[in-house]
Amino acid sequence: MVVVTPWPYPTWIAHRGAGRLAPENTLAAFRAGAALGWRAFECDVKLSADGVPFLLHDDTLERTTDAAGSAGNLNWADLARLDAGGWHGRLYAGEPPCSLDAIAAFCLRNGHLLNLELKPVPGDEERTGQVVAQAVRQRWGEAVRDGLSAWPLLSSFEPRALAAAREAVPELPRALLLDRLAPDCFDIAERLDCVAVILEESLVHADLVRTLHHDGLRVLAYTVNDAGRADLLLDLGLDGLITDAVDTFVPGP
Ligand code: G3P
Ligand code: MG
Repeated sequence: MVVVTPWPYPTWIAHRGAGRLAPENTLAAFRAGAALGWRAFECDVKLSADGVPFLLHDDTLERTTDAAGSAGNLNWADLARLDAGGWHGRLYAGEPPCSLDAIAAFCLRNGHLLNLELKPVPGDEERTGQVVAQAVRQRWGEAVRDGLSAWPLLSSFEPRALAAAREAVPELPRALLLDRLAPDCFDIAERLDCVAVILEESLVHADLVRTLHHDGLRVLAYTVNDAGRADLLLDLGLDGLITDAVDTFVPGP
């Protein structure tokens, strides 16, 4: 018998906060998405040198901040002083990087759900999985117990980060991210007790979705920015679509 885990997340999820409207992975992006009615957000989380979880996509700082070098080399106090908005446009100059604590407070206050992608700097996979999972339990635990929120869905391309998260806080839902279909990729998802896989959208086809659903896995796709492709994927029964096109799609249920 296939046991399908209850699924509290909306179908549509805004990518990197709503990182096309405003600088990705900042509070400004979440606010911009929320103003358009987005309820669920994906964002990327990694650790500062002193172990504080914060939002950033790249391994290095230069693309999305006014600093350079490895994102894992600075302590949070120094990261928090950077400009993570000016690269996007003058309107957002001075927007600071966002800690997981700040985004937890924002989501819990406003009823938003999160897909938290563990995006460790290379070599920091286990510590990132462990520390983020413990932070999630601490920040969301009471609201989840009181029925006021669902846990964030923890996802990663890095099985070692997901394994460390499971070891630290087994009850958090996990999803394996896949940008290609290696022969053993779904065995890895099963071994990690994942509730879902999140596939690069061009990998998705009908037989695969049927098989994965039959095996009890939810199936999501990233990054779906084309309306025709979105319709097709929804027809295939996908459980979630992660999109940059937050000003094109109207977030439904
Ligand atoms: O989590 C889905 C998607 O965000 C994975 O790719 O590179 O945008 O983090 P990336
Ligand atoms: Mg991501």
